[in-house]
Amino acid sequence: MIVDLFAGPGGLDVAAHWLDVPSIGIEFDESAVLTREEAGLSTIHADVTRWQPSDFTEVVNVLTGGPPCQTFTVAGNGHGRKALKDVVSLVEMLGEGKIDDVLAQVAKYEEVRTGLVLQPLIWVLRALEEGRPFEAILLEQVPTVKPVWDAMKTVLESKGYGVDVGILRTEEYGVPQTRRRAVLASRWHVPSAIVKLPEPTHQKYVGTALNTEPTLDFSVGRPQWISMAEALGWDEPFTVVSNYGSGGDPKNRSKRRHDRPAFTVTGKISRNRVVIDDSREERRFGPEHAGRLQTFPTDYPWSGTDISQQIGNAIPPRLGTHILAWLLGIDVELDEKFFADRSDHWKGPDDERALQIRNGIARTEVLGNSITTILKSPSRHVVEVPNPKLSPAPAT
Ligand SMILES: C[S@@+](CC[C@H](N)C(=O)[O-])C[C@H]1O[C@@H](n2cnc3c(N)ncnc32)[C@H](O)[C@@H]1O
Repeated sequence: MIVDLFAGPGGLDVAAHWLDVPSIGIEFDESAVLTREEAGLSTIHADVTRWQPSDFTEVVNVLTGGPPCQTFTVAGNGHGRKALKDVVSLVEMLGEGKIDDVLAQVAKYEEVRTGLVLQPLIWVLRALEEGRPFEAILLEQVPTVKPVWDAMKTVLESKGYGVDVGILRTEEYGVPQTRRRAVLASRWHVPSAIVKLPEPTHQKYVGTALNTEPTLDFSVGRPQWISMAEALGWDEPFTVVSNYGSGGDPKNRSKRRHDRPAFTVTGKISRNRVVIDDSREERRFGPEHAGRLQTFPTDYPWSGTDISQQIGNAIPPRLGTHILAWLLGIDVELDEKFFADRSDHWKGPDDERALQIRNGIARTEVLGNSITTILKSPSRHVVEVPNPKLSPAPAT
């Protein structure tokens, strides 16, 4: 069973559910929790820093996390660069076993979110101290955080983990959007030489001038990326005018045609202008469109406030599915049909699964505090949870 730190609206949990792997998220934003609740995803509505591995039973053996990245998205400026450097040296201190010193240091930061990126490693180290290591780990963040993942790789390897770190491009995994993410994937007692992030399933998007033919390379043996028009099912040709400038000029708005992948879906996606060719009518992407471009099912029950931000924060479920299936050694054909069957309608976990997930929680007072599906089953039943040893990740 997965514990997903900083679980957001559930990008990773959707992927896990599609693969039939139980997951429980820890998330403190009320709106993201509302979305999760509507989607039937089990959640501990709490601050990640107030929980630890011993609050879970032994069935919880996989750790995933996408910590907040505000501090590091500005890595181009002095503050972001310094924060990165500081955090990398704190990772090294964690490797020396100095968890309390690191926490004391982080508590002094003015920007409290900066230290949160260390939490997954702290969880891994605490689980090791307790003699019940997580069997698999998956972390995801903006590309500027890669130096932190690289430093964590060194620490994890010294503790007996095999690790791969890479920058993945979402369009290369069938997501109709260009988005780059730094990913760390790790397996307990599997050599790093065979822990290799999964191979892309689609071609890389090479940007071209607005109306020119796309640059494609079928020699790599992969189909082309998936376009916005395909994902949204819109027939009329259109152009998306980004809310961001290009070439260093904020007034020179980037544009993309309908037959290309979308720009990175951010919390500001509703500011993109979508201009329909013939009518010159202008539209905006609503939550169902932004969600689709992130590969959430069309009817995913976005709830609460700041829905664009929730959507922009998430790991695209389709990318998450590819990484998780490979990491956990799940043998399933992840072809177009697999995703097409799941793209229109969301059917969340059932009551039996929610009961299984309850049995992953050792700190029982949460059952009275959580506002989510865990609470919906009135008493704590003992349910046999299948938890086979993970099969080794296949080398790719
Ligand atoms: C980048 S998003 C993660 C998205 C998630 N991986 C997904 O796929 O949907 C980071 C999330 O961490 C949450 N968060 C930030 N600080 C937190 C904390 N101390 N405890 C719990 N959640 C926190 C934010 O509300 C946000 O939803």
